[in-house]
Amino acid sequence: MYEQEKRLLAEAALKHVKNGMVLGLGTGSTTRLFIEVLGNWVQDGGQIQGVATSDATAEQAKQLNIPLLSLEEATHIDLVIDGIDQIDRQFQVLKGGGGALFREKVVALMSREVLYLADASKFVHHLSGPLPVEVEPFAGPYVEQRLQEKHLVFTLRQQDGQLFVTDGGHLIIDVDLERIQDVRHFAQELKGWSGVVETGYFERQPDHVLTVEQGNVRQLA
Ligand code: 5RP
Repeated sequence: MYEQEKRLLAEAALKHVKNGMVLGLGTGSTTRLFIEVLGNWVQDGGQIQGVATSDATAEQAKQLNIPLLSLEEATHIDLVIDGIDQIDRQFQVLKGGGGALFREKVVALMSREVLYLADASKFVHHLSGPLPVEVEPFAGPYVEQRLQEKHLVFTLRQQDGQLFVTDGGHLIIDVDLERIQDVRHFAQELKGWSGVVETGYFERQPDHVLTVEQGNVRQLA
């Protein structure tokens, strides 16, 4: 779905890339298209160093001969280009639909600038979730118990009939936000629970957001 919009966004994102940049490479279907475009640009002589936000992104970048730095090697990141799951009018953002939220968040926090690619399906009045909550596997039952005490609806993420495990070896609990008025406050509270590694609420607001309106790419910020 929204394939055509994602493709337009991927092509428009390349205009923000400059020779010599250290570039954070996001995760998901939109970023996948952007990395394809970036691979062609590198093949034509463009020079950047990428920092991948997931093993899947690193794999794709390697196949396209995009030079990579690990997060440990990167002393700075100039710009990260990534997709999102939801964005509201205040530019609050939910991510982690692809399960890469932890590394995506660290890369976004490290980066001088953040550019998000958002097709029309991503815009909401109120962040409704699900909010991905990444947990240490042994703490899963404890976190679930605390969510139950708050009468929240949640699911332990599965993929192909198996528990979904992140690149960092953690589990993801997807929490429905219907009953949550203040998502920022709730995300801060979750970060205080033992066993919670990260949430998909991104405190760092984007510097730039690209979307598509009536077939044209528009920059919202
Ligand atoms: C992965 C993410 C993705 O950026 C988010 O899920 C958007 O994905 P897509 O581009 O496939 O719509 O946060 O963890």
